[in-house]
Formats: sequence, C-alpha cells, structure tokens
Amino acid sequence: MAVPSDPNRVIIFDTTLRDGEQSPGCSMNLHEKLEMARALADLGVDVIEAGFPIASPGDFESVQAIARQISGPTIAGLARCNPADIDRAADAVKDAQKPRIHVFLATSAIHREFKLRMTPDEVAKRAVEGVKRARDRCADIEFSPEDAARTELDFLAEVVERVIEAGATTLNIPDTVGYAVPEHYASIIRHLKQKVRGIENCVLSVHCHNDLGLAVANSLAALREGARQVECTINGIGERAGNTSLEEVVMALHTRRDFYGLSTGINTRHLYPCSRKLSLVTGQQVQRNKAIVGQNAFAHEAGIHQDGMLKERSTYEIMRPEDVGISRTELVLGKHSGRAALKDRIGHLGYHLTDEQLNRVFDEFKKLADKKKEIYDADIEALAENQLHAGTGSLWSLVGFTSTAGTGSQTSAAVTLRHLDGTVRRDAAVGNGPIDALIKAIDRITGAKVKVVDYRVRSVSQDMDAQGEATIEVEHNGRRSRARAVSVDVVEASALAYLEVVNRVVSRQLRDRLKPTDNVPPEVVPGA
Ligand code: KIV
Ligand code: ZN
Repeated sequence: MAVPSDPNRVIIFDTTLRDGEQSPGCSMNLHEKLEMARALADLGVDVIEAGFPIASPGDFESVQAIARQISGPTIAGLARCNPADIDRAADAVKDAQKPRIHVFLATSAIHREFKLRMTPDEVAKRAVEGVKRARDRCADIEFSPEDAARTELDFLAEVVERVIEAGATTLNIPDTVGYAVPEHYASIIRHLKQKVRGIENCVLSVHCHNDLGLAVANSLAALREGARQVECTINGIGERAGNTSLEEVVMALHTRRDFYGLSTGINTRHLYPCSRKLSLVTGQQVQRNKAIVGQNAFAHEAGIHQDGMLKERSTYEIMRPEDVGISRTELVLGKHSGRAALKDRIGHLGYHLTDEQLNRVFDEFKKLADKKKEIYDADIEALAENQLHAGTGSLWSLVGFTSTAGTGSQTSAAVTLRHLDGTVRRDAAVGNGPIDALIKAIDRITGAKVKVVDYRVRSVSQDMDAQGEATIEVEHNGRRSRARAVSVDVVEASALAYLEVVNRVVSRQLRDRLKPTDNVPPEVVPGA
C-alpha cells in the first residue's frame, strides 16, 4: 500500500483474525473467519491481517480463502523472519487484489538474548534478508521489530533504516508486552521520524497491547507524532489484555477531529454490528461498560443525566448511538412484518444471506413471532446466525427429545437423532440435571467422547419469553471446538449446541482418518 496522498488519513489495519484470534476463547473456523472478514470489509478497514499462514494448515487455508474472496481491503499474512514462513505467507496472500506480507523479528535486548540468542548485528542482518525475500514475492511489505517499545532507541532506528533500504513499505512499531505509556511511546515515534533516513517514504504504524490499559491512549499519542497506520482489533481482543480496540480508536479520532485533525475510511455505523458479530462468532461477550459497544455505553441511569438528555442530548452524550450503529428503537418487527422489512433489518445488522437462507430465516421468524410477542434486533441476529451456521449435511441432527426433571427426582432425558445416512436412533440417560442427561444420551448415540470445558446460557433479548442462547466448548484430543445455538427453550438450545460441536469433532475425526499426514509447522506460534 502506497503512502496515502492525504497526509491526515489514518490507515486502519485490523488484526482481529490474527492477533485477536490467537487469544484464548477467540479461535474461529474458516467459515467464521470469512464471515468476519466480510464484516470488516463492510466496515471499511484498509488492511485485514487474515492470519499466520505457517502456524497450521487451517491458518493457511483461511488466509488464502480470505485473499481470494474478500475484495476491497489489503490482505496481509504474518511471517517470522525466515524463508519458510515468508514463502508460506506469500503463497497464502498471492491471489488477493492487494496482498501484503508482514514480517516480524524481535529487536529488544531481552528477546535477542533469551529468545533468539542472536547478537544485534545478526538480528539486523536477518531482518534485512527477510524483508528482501518478502519483497521478491510481494510489493507491499510490512516489517515489525517485535518488542520495539523495549528496544534501545539507536538500535531500533538502525534496524528500521536498514529494512527500509531493503524494501519495507510499512514500518510497524509494536509495544508487544504493553509496557509503554503515551509520552514514552510518542517519543519513540518522534525519534524514528527524526533519525531514520527514508522514513518519509514509508507508512509508520503502531501496534499496542493493553496490559496497562493504555493501548488506545498509546496509539493516539503516536498518531499525534505522525504515525499513520493503527493496528487494532474489534472489541480489543488479543493476546493477554488485548490489543488497541478498533471501535475506541476510530471513535476517538472521529469525535475529536477538532483535536487530531485526522480521518479514517471507517463507516462508523458498522461498528456495533461488527462488534456483535464477533461476540456471536466467538461466544465472548464484551463487558457492559465497554466504551462504544458495551450495553451501557449509551445508557443514562442518573436522574440528573436523564433530565439533561431530555432537554438537550449533547449535555451528556458526546456521540450519537446511531453513529456507531446502535438503533434507538430496538423493537423492530412483529408478527405482521413482511419479508421485505426482515430483509432490510438483516442487511442493516450486517448479514449477507442468500435468498434461500433469507427464506429460511423468514420461516423461523414467523414461528418465533407466534411464540414471542416482541422481536428485537438480537432475536433477528440469532436467527441469521443460526442460518449461517446451520450444518449443511450435518452428520447427526436432532429429531426430538424429552427430559424430566424435578426436585427430589432423578433427571433423565430421551433423545432421538437422525444420521446423515437416514437412520434414526433413540437412546436415554440419567444425569445431574437435564443438560447432563441430554449430553449423556447424545454421547450414547453418537459415540462421542468429548470433554465439556465451558457451558454458558444467556438470554438473547429482554422479557421472560426471550430466546436463550447456549454456547458449549469441548475438548477432544487437545483441540477445542465451540458451538452455539438459540431457541426459546434453553434445554433445546443446549442440545442443539452440543450436537453441533459433536458433529464438528466427529467430522474432523473422519477427515483426519482420510488424510495421510498433517503438515504441522516446525516451531510453535510465538506469543505475538
Ligand atoms: O505484538 C506484537 O509484537 C505482534 C507483532 C507480530 C506485530 O503482534
Ligand atoms: Zn501483537
């Protein structure tokens, strides 16, 4: 990506699918990554870091699929500074409209000495070789001196200058461990701008972690000093305490244009739908008081505030909820709403459904409207998500179940499942509560031997007749899989979620049995 012609335009580099996805509980499958990448493209991000292609065959496949299917943003693949990583990243992104290889190598004394066991000269030489190799395969090269914020300033400047000579087009300055504070981080950017020859022809980028809760503040401080790319993630997900939150940094620039005088290409009305989508896909809810996208972000509780708001909104509101895609009138559809209204609402919520999927959502919507008087955005999101994740040709599907529970009596469940080959099987089990009994009955039929590591149920919207969403995470052979399902009956939602996750595990077992070998990378994925 060339240096933008507008000096005040900030490039938004989204790493939700790479740094974000690396964090516990946030892993996504190929289908989910593609869905998120589509949402990010709609949001208007400039760069999507789609993954770390050498990390696993699955990572390679998703970076390649995103490179082939998502148009608009630049698609970047991450690589350590070695030939195998760089070649793998180059192969994964090569079909993108705008490909980028992002090469990184640690530069701080602590990383050089204990992790890399390399001298400063060796590090600088390796960085140059890596960038040259990447540049032979791709015109758009980003280089990151990992742990830059703890690197000696003169050495950092030397490495940056040498990789620019070698062909890097974007220079990213990571605060890998979230150690920096705003004035300190800004001074690093200032130093590089003053000392490094050729830096004016490159984009200077920032990548901050949130260990001290300062990632957004550090990123903004660096932008004031002339950095023009911010690396960030939706909902701030990422290693440990996370990365710079995309929605926060974008809305800070937008709300305080008077102060920063900078702009982005983000369509801010997609921020909330995008945040919701990530929560739905990963099962990780944002905290209620999270800035911009939390449930309380625009709620005014205190009487004095409510009074002020009624008189003049700007007394207590610095942003309008509709500007970030939160609708003030949440109650949108009812029993008599038609297909066109539903389609419109689904589009507004950021979903791309085929006509066939839309028809199925419409049927489900009508059934739901019979059971539930008021249908909220969250209900519609749940129906759309159910369609997007509906197992096409799932191995086992739920025909029906009954469960009995009560104080002092033993809980039991009887389940009927249909196999893909058409056979129907029924079994029953007793357990500690209805969910345990259901799971045991499903295990007896499918032969699944998985360990449930997380199980959560929450209400999708308000009211006593709200739909319940069940999220189940299981572990099998050291790998975790997660699934979610929604129903007005939480026991049914739990059964559906469990069955979905069992289907994934069993299908994976079948695939693995058919595959001759798995291309496991030689080194572990670093905690980048
Ligand atoms: O935090 C970090 O240093 C990283 C790099 C790979 C950019 O994520
Ligand atoms: Zn990082």
